[in-house]
Amino acid sequence: MKVAFLSDVHSNYHALMSCYQYIEKNRIDYVCYLGDYISDLPYPVRTLEAIKEFAGNHTCFYIKGNREEYMENAFKNNLLFKKGSQQGSLLYTFENLRNEDIAWFTSLPVSSEVTIGDYATFGISHGGYDNSRDIITICDNTAYNFIKKQRTRLHVLGHSHKPFLYMRDGKILLNPGSVGVPVSGRTRAQMAVVSFYSDTIMPELVELSYDTEAAVREFYESGLLEYADVWARTIIAILKTGEHYNEQCIQLVKKLSGQSGRDFSDEELWQNAAKMLGI
Ligand SMILES: [Fe+2]
Repeated sequence: MKVAFLSDVHSNYHALMSCYQYIEKNRIDYVCYLGDYISDLPYPVRTLEAIKEFAGNHTCFYIKGNREEYMENAFKNNLLFKKGSQQGSLLYTFENLRNEDIAWFTSLPVSSEVTIGDYATFGISHGGYDNSRDIITICDNTAYNFIKKQRTRLHVLGHSHKPFLYMRDGKILLNPGSVGVPVSGRTRAQMAVVSFYSDTIMPELVELSYDTEAAVREFYESGLLEYADVWARTIIAILKTGEHYNEQCIQLVKKLSGQSGRDFSDEELWQNAAKMLGI
């Protein structure tokens, strides 16, 4: 039995379509989504509708990511994201969602334990078990700390956009990377496929090419750049190169903000950081 794991789609419909083609071609019946379905790229409803349609002939499991939580919080508390960079990108997504989408996000758990058939039991989360914003990576001790307390033999999580396979004490911790905004220096959509047998688990990280040009073109057609000029340009740069431009930009803006005493949300700081990064 095979299960596909898709995380951090971030409204990248074209990357998602490439994953769906792979899933169909390889006759994978079960699909687990690990959250961050939307934001960063345009047309969030198109992605959500595609996910819904795909569930028509596949068994799917869902949890929410921090981006869904941002949308829920904005809706519940009547918060308004401001235009400009990060906030403007969230505002674009929020304005393009329907009430039913927010209601769906609200219904999703932060983590879950899934059992399929007799021998496939595993845990899924976006970040940690209780907090979607926990960053678990093998670059520090967070993956080690997580696996020590891991409740199932296999656990699959996302959020960092950095794929890894980590094994310790007979347990497996897997991150499939990001479908829509991969930042590992390559521009291909990332996902994972796990084959379950009665006595063993075989995880595999998969990378797939997709129509990046179409994804980039839609930034210009959709109006997203007008809401979030610099942030949208960092995402375009990621799609074109696979380099982690949004993180680099955040770090630069923090530095510029510290040096000047100006607010982190000051768009001029973001414009200066973009210039320094050459995007
Ligand atoms: Fe996330």
